Amino acid sequence: MILNVLYLLATITFIFGLKLLGHPETAKKGNLIAASGMALAIVATLIFNEHEVSKKVYTLIGIAIVVGVVIGWVIAIRVKMTKMPELVSLFNGFGGASAALIGVVEFSHTGDNTLQMITIISAIVIGSLTFSGSMIAWAKLNGMMWKDIRLPKYNLINNIIFIGLIVFGAYIVWSQTESIFVVYILLSTALIYGVLFVIPIGGADMPVVISLLNALTGIAAAITGVLYGNMVMMVGGILVGSAGLILTFAMCEGMNRSLVNVIFGQFGETETEGAEGSAAALKGTYKSATVSDVAILMNYSQQVIIVPGYGLAVAQAQHAIHELEQILENKGIKVKYAIHPVAGRMPGHMNVLLAETNVEYDKLVEMDDVNPEFPNTDVVFVVGANDVVNPAAHNDPSSPIYGMPILDVENAKQIIVNKRSMKPGYAGIENELFYNQKTSMLFGDAKSVIQGLITELKGM
Ligand code: TAP
Repeated sequence: MILNVLYLLATITFIFGLKLLGHPETAKKGNLIAASGMALAIVATLIFNEHEVSKKVYTLIGIAIVVGVVIGWVIAIRVKMTKMPELVSLFNGFGGASAALIGVVEFSHTGDNTLQMITIISAIVIGSLTFSGSMIAWAKLNGMMWKDIRLPKYNLINNIIFIGLIVFGAYIVWSQTESIFVVYILLSTALIYGVLFVIPIGGADMPVVISLLNALTGIAAAITGVLYGNMVMMVGGILVGSAGLILTFAMCEGMNRSLVNVIFGQFGETETEGAEGSAAALKGTYKSATVSDVAILMNYSQQVIIVPGYGLAVAQAQHAIHELEQILENKGIKVKYAIHPVAGRMPGHMNVLLAETNVEYDKLVEMDDVNPEFPNTDVVFVVGANDVVNPAAHNDPSSPIYGMPILDVENAKQIIVNKRSMKPGYAGIENELFYNQKTSMLFGDAKSVIQGLITELKGM
């Protein structure tokens, strides 16, 4: 009874925490509340569970908790915001591995309970493929793996293995076999499928896959919850699964990809072809500006819109951009930030980065709301962003990002683009915005360029 009440409390903290995560202002609190709920669920299980647990098992659990907490703490403190997708990928992988291992351990305890068997087989398959897929995703994002390996007919092979897994799993349930050997074959096949599923995926689509794997981890955890009749595990898993799916859809929408396209691993191909096509099509001259040119331009503006991108995060220029914004505001110039849903490397990346510097939240304007404002904007300052402002998304049907919603910065009166070179962004394609008559390139590392602008503007 006490255990169920505590589980209910923990469940409420998860739901409440998730709600608070929806806004940068409350996200930190939400995270803490949900984490406290998880701690409560773990401690309650250890104290109030109904089973006989030996001292040895308690000691092992204690050691596992201490080791896990220390490793998790150190990694979370040290990880850079730009490396977050890698960390999420690792966490997904471990979640999947836990579900698969629980499935293997519980297999011998099922007897002839069909429902339990289905649960166990699902946990093993989903957990294993999530583990191996996440490890490949982690290695790819870390640059530790050859990218975009594609076996001939990889799509067909993957789909055959996927169907084979379902059929084999169904056979294990139907035959009520007690052989652990068949379970190991199932587990190995699921591991191989996870690898083959992620290996062909490259470029800008990796974070979508990570989010999908995240959803699968949640589903695996929920299944394990069903297995143990454990409410808190079930709800936790369902929340992770559904939040992961919502995120996957949001990313697909932000990049104009369908989920079917993601699941069947057909991305990457159009991207490479399109990249070459667009690059070849773009030849022209671009203008470059100096820091003092841009400072003068900003000084005489009425409205400046800043477009933050991945480069701003890499340069750790969030504090500098906030200072620039304050200086401009003190001069009576209106400043806003235009936030693209997939700017950076994950949704919300720019919001979190700017929230860290206490930028006022109402200054962060989402894409749909800010797009109509560009024609009335004197200067749009694009800082380390590239794909999210690429007009090819509107103008070039051969481009891999054609149809992706973008920030319409080309409608502003003047466009300043800060980056270090003319190199393409994440999607690997050229950007015709840089050759626009209204655009001036301001080359250099975002942080030092912004600091230069601050110095110039202070002296005006
Ligand atoms: P990107 O297109 O990756 O462009 C970032 C630019 O920043 C690069 O062109 C780079 O040019 C510049 N840069 C790097 N370091 C810099 C520094 N220290 N100082 C100044 N500039 C620097 O970024 P974006 O516009 O934010 O677009 C995000 C991309 O990620 C899109 O392709 C999107 O589809 C993809 N993506 C996002 C998500 C989510 S969910 N957010 C998911 C999947 C994929 P230089 O090298 O010339 O400096």
